[in-house]
Amino acid sequence: MQHLCVLLFLFACVTLRSGVEGIGVNYGFLGDNLPPPTQVINLLKSINIQKTRIFDPNPAVLKALEGSGISVILGTRNEDLQPLASDLNFATNWVITNVVPHVSSVNFAYISAGNEVIPGQLASFVLGAIQNLDSALKALNLNIPVTTTVSLQVLGTSYPPSQGVFTEESIQFLRPIAQFLATKEYPLLADVYPYFAYASSPEHIQLDYALVKNTADNVIDGDLRYSNLFDAMVDALYAALEKVGQAGLGVVISETGWPSGGDVYATIDNAQTYVNNLIAHVASGKGTPRKPGKVVETYIFALFNENQKPVGTEQNFGLFYPNMTEVYHVNLTPMKK
Ligand SMILES: *[C@@H]1O[C@H](CO)[C@@H](O)[C@H](O)[C@H]1NC(C)=O
Repeated sequence: MQHLCVLLFLFACVTLRSGVEGIGVNYGFLGDNLPPPTQVINLLKSINIQKTRIFDPNPAVLKALEGSGISVILGTRNEDLQPLASDLNFATNWVITNVVPHVSSVNFAYISAGNEVIPGQLASFVLGAIQNLDSALKALNLNIPVTTTVSLQVLGTSYPPSQGVFTEESIQFLRPIAQFLATKEYPLLADVYPYFAYASSPEHIQLDYALVKNTADNVIDGDLRYSNLFDAMVDALYAALEKVGQAGLGVVISETGWPSGGDVYATIDNAQTYVNNLIAHVASGKGTPRKPGKVVETYIFALFNENQKPVGTEQNFGLFYPNMTEVYHVNLTPMKK
């Protein structure tokens, strides 16, 4: 028994010492010049990243993740939402095809049914897809949380953060989804981009506040004080969830980032400042003013510049060029609290 304790203790130490707490990186495939998956997984390891997110179940990528120690958020393709929702057999086959072959050596953090489809044509399929995937996984004795990923387009009001509320179009879908997730204790995934908020109204937002520089008490909202826009956006989502009765629902930030090219605010300098400040802020474990002391698990968007995305800023979110050279340096050495 004592040996086991020593082993567990050592293992805990190893876990704490590697990786930056709470930080992952999105791995998108929309480039025709990206390195092969095995090289990409080695790149993630070399920069000390232990969590990634992929947008569709690419078999070569899942194979490359085997035994890597890197956990993955696995997304379903949006076009699979309707069959996943309407047919339990389709959901079961999806799990058998995409999860089962890898599950003994890949840590699936979450499965996301769809990406940013609420509100919209596919929104009505999300809850059914989550439920069928959950049933299929349970029937196969697999304990993997199933959820969906929303953009902050779901918020009607987001300022000040305490006034955060879902839009009329979104709330009809999100109320039952949030309720289901809360019952199962699965988190909601959300993509949060201070960059887009800033770029759409630079005259109303301080650049330093958007870049997570130290701007103490930039926004005062009742008893809460905000020094960066990221926290304010995340808290607006928490406030909206509270208003549908789900104050306790966990939130994972599935995407955040800042482009390094494509418009005047999208400079390498701003991108590097945002990403490094954001990582230090998340890793500090301070949480947000509404949920202090809670590490907000956060995935940077994205690993590579992707040349098959729309021209402009969308192609320039990468930490790396496709040849695996850094666009800018990111500090991912483990930090002590
Ligand atoms: C990698 O690609 C970038 C962008 O195209 C280029 O500036 C850089 O010189 C390349 N580095 C190497 C080592 O090829």
